[in-house]
Amino acid sequence: MTTVPRLDVVRVDPQDPDQRMLHDAAAALRRGGLVAFPTETVYGLGANALDADAVAGVFRAKGRPADNPLIVHLADPSDLPRLARAVPPTAAALAEQWWPGPLTLVLDARPDVPAITTGGHATVGVRVPDHPVARALIAAAGVPVAAPSANRSGRPSPTSADHVIADLGGALDTIVDGGTCAVGVESTVVDARGDHPIVLREGAVTREDLAATGHDGPTATAPGTRYRHYAPDCAVTIADDVAAGAAELTRAGRRPGVVAPAGTTVPPGVKTLATYRDLPELARVLYHALRDAEAGDIDITVLPRVPPHGLGRAVADRIARAAGQV
Ligand code: TXA
Ligand code: MG
Repeated sequence: MTTVPRLDVVRVDPQDPDQRMLHDAAAALRRGGLVAFPTETVYGLGANALDADAVAGVFRAKGRPADNPLIVHLADPSDLPRLARAVPPTAAALAEQWWPGPLTLVLDARPDVPAITTGGHATVGVRVPDHPVARALIAAAGVPVAAPSANRSGRPSPTSADHVIADLGGALDTIVDGGTCAVGVESTVVDARGDHPIVLREGAVTREDLAATGHDGPTATAPGTRYRHYAPDCAVTIADDVAAGAAELTRAGRRPGVVAPAGTTVPPGVKTLATYRDLPELARVLYHALRDAEAGDIDITVLPRVPPHGLGRAVADRIARAAGQV
């Protein structure tokens, strides 16, 4: 006899989620289940961060290397001492400034945070997401929620419930569908243990944002940024002028698709995967376009070269990785 895994899809109003709708999803988290949910950046694949067996399920579902730590999500900044052994002044100031929001703080972990959650590190990454559904779900669960992006390891992060179902549908207990994600790139990860934050992963909070509040600092590398990432199942290339790049590929017998600035005249026969007017819009549509590229009748995706300033740093990083250039 075969058993068909049952996936509960719970649709909620992203602005004003009905608590009753989240009740079962919160109970599933408490029981050790896997629950995908929206955040302002991308969808997360959640499990009780303090339940090692539940967290093991996250690594299995994603096919994630065991040494790549998970970000733990809290409903409220005041819960931080449940996870962090100490909250130094810089970390407190960053939390005050950016939470709820797309900034992950890496701090010394309390000893009761399972090693599997921290990837065997002595630190834990924590953030309070700026999404009413995420916060209501975590609050209802009453436990800190470890949640990597809800994609199979190496794939583009999911910015809608459909993306999650495509990658992980068979491995989940519940998915809370709160529509598409407003930001579209992941949180900025900083080591916040010292006097100055060290940026470990570029993300939605820019260096310029950090510098403007007196928090500029050096760069290092998060464990997760060592792995190939954000790669669709389709060739990807980068061009200064995507229309010209696509025209050249067409002449060479390829079938390109483009992500193009709004108003671009796209050559005949070239598929427009997405257009954007500014960087925030490019960030919002990028992962969706990468997934669309797999579905269509194209064999190569042409992405724009983005100047690495402000939000462009995170976007350029994701584009380079999608093209296999990192
Ligand atoms: O926006 C986001 O950050 C999304 C949403 C769901 O919150 N989450 C996300 O998680 O992007 P994930 O697992 O796909 O990426 C987490 C990154 C990885 O590069 C990981 O190595 C790094 O954060 N990270 C997590 N904990 C860390 C720690 N203790 N020390 C250093 N890096 C850490
Ligand atoms: Mg990820």
